[in-house]
Amino acid sequence: MLDEVNIMINDKTRVISFDKIDDNDFLDAKSKEMIKAFLKIERNYRYALNKMITKIENMDDYCNMSYAHNPIHHTEARLKSPDSIIEKMKRRGYPLTIESLMENLYDVAGMRVICNYINDIYQIVHLISLQKDIKVRLKKDYIVNPKDTGYRSLHIVYEVNVTIFNEEIWVPVEIQFRTLAMDMWASLEHELRYKSKDMVSESEKAHLKRYADSLYEIDLGMQRLYIGKTSGGNSDD
Ligand code: GTP
Ligand code: MG
Repeated sequence: MLDEVNIMINDKTRVISFDKIDDNDFLDAKSKEMIKAFLKIERNYRYALNKMITKIENMDDYCNMSYAHNPIHHTEARLKSPDSIIEKMKRRGYPLTIESLMENLYDVAGMRVICNYINDIYQIVHLISLQKDIKVRLKKDYIVNPKDTGYRSLHIVYEVNVTIFNEEIWVPVEIQFRTLAMDMWASLEHELRYKSKDMVSESEKAHLKRYADSLYEIDLGMQRLYIGKTSGGNSDD
């Protein structure tokens, strides 16, 4: 279990040790209870996330062995901090209880799987679908249906089966699948919005959308080149 939690107060992160949660004045009583309750189940999310990371690494390895191609460029994983859990629940107006957390927040355990080509994303998703201890809970395909901003990624909330001592439970893990190009756009666009405190003009939005569409064209073009090369043909055909 975590010994400390990060709490954001007035834009500054403070580290509070778990056994001192009750002693500090900047957390309200409900937040304190929520943090203590969450820390008791935090390991469920950690186990599920670790299981998912291992499985996905193994799938990449399997593809390399079978097709001499690594579909995954890299992965990122994080557990949401108690701090941002409380912030999100307050922002969304959810009651600050562990039941409401389990019902409403699917991204406590989150991963990004950054693939080389668009087809790689669907190949990994297919391999995950063959796993008996993983179920799909929710799927949003922003590659097929990009957001108005231009954002593209495939978001899937999985339920991962983990055994805690002798008890089997299903824990949500959210994965954002993207190509390198989609990831580049999402991280720069996020930084721009963050830096300008979301004050992005209509013309800047239009530029960002156009760049996202261009990067998608590049993704399709690179994939065509790759398929051409690996199927023995010439991609100019
Ligand atoms: P959340 O509770 O925020 O996850 O809401 P949601 O699940 O209803 O929203 P969504 O499916 O849009 O997923 C939200 C996540 O996708 C964000 O935390 C970002 O990581 C990513 N995302 C969605 N839209 C954009 C976008 O326009 N730009 C960038 N950079 N990221 C986005
Ligand atoms: Mg979400």
